Amino acid sequence: IITRGLATSAARNAIKNVTVIGGGLMGSGIAQVAAQTGHNVTLVEVNADILKKAEGSIVNSVGRVAKKMYKDDAAAAKKFLEETQSRIKGSTEPAKSVSDADLVIEAIVENMDIKHKLFKSLDEAAPAKTIFASNTSSLSIGEIASVTSRKDRFGGLHFFNPVAVMKLLEVVRIPETSEDTYQAMMAWGKAIGKTCITCKDTPGFVVNRLLVPYLAEAIRMMERGDASARDIDIAMKLGAGYPMGPIELSDYVGHDTSNSIVQGWHKKFPDNPLFKPCDSQQKLVAAGKLGVKTGEGYYKYNK
Ligand code: NAI
Repeated sequence: IITRGLATSAARNAIKNVTVIGGGLMGSGIAQVAAQTGHNVTLVEVNADILKKAEGSIVNSVGRVAKKMYKDDAAAAKKFLEETQSRIKGSTEPAKSVSDADLVIEAIVENMDIKHKLFKSLDEAAPAKTIFASNTSSLSIGEIASVTSRKDRFGGLHFFNPVAVMKLLEVVRIPETSEDTYQAMMAWGKAIGKTCITCKDTPGFVVNRLLVPYLAEAIRMMERGDASARDIDIAMKLGAGYPMGPIELSDYVGHDTSNSIVQGWHKKFPDNPLFKPCDSQQKLVAAGKLGVKTGEGYYKYNK
């Protein structure tokens, strides 16, 4: 009886229609993996031009995946690309885009007021069955959810860049998240091929909470002159077995991204020394040296 009960509840909550709001770096990737795994996706952007760009980048990325998956079978690769593409619909109207959504994933700019405005309007437009999730990296899921009347159907689904490649999905529960919602999010994460971990609504969840202070401490070590950037990187690669050193990794992540996360946490938790912004990183941001993406951070890169 228990097994049948669980199966029924899982079937009732099976997520098929997914609306992704925001088609930037993360939203495009989320839309891509969802469509690749057979879900109907509606991708929402602020205007038609940006939407077209997002759709173009998805097609390129799915094309690369298809080539890899079907190395010696061009026809199968073409079919995979066409089928995936046919499952993605574009929209510039958030309210209309959620009318039949089982799950809405928000991946818009990292700004609480803008996220509140969006979720308030989506809450009024979406049917009762729709689960809401945010892909925020550094904001509180509970605070984002506070403007909706469906906190029991709200959680965090935190992906990693590049979404098509990175295996992990952090599934975040707020105290109000219902067991059904949580199970549906976990099942969907598995269905799109990710390995899910669960955590509470704590700053940075698991990965960023450990990674951001680690990167900052490596930068502070360099600022103090304890060791050079290159030596710190070599040390952590050969001594701790990390694939990248912390200074090169912080160039890869982007100093604007890391710095704004740390600034946000520092403002909210001023007494936590782990969340203190780094002087040299702020200088890099002010100079536009954001890391690999701009060709220079702590190291120089050939663009
Ligand atoms: P992005 O700047 O590449 O993309 C954001 C997109 O949202 C833009 O294309 C923008 O036009 C669109 N947008 C803004 N307001 C909108 C609205 N009201 N409706 C529809 N679209 C709207 O940003 P990115 O990097 O994709 O980040 C998005 C979210 O994902 C943020 O909350 C961020 O914290 C989170 N995140 C970012 C990661 C990263 O490595 N960049 C990793 C994991 C999470």
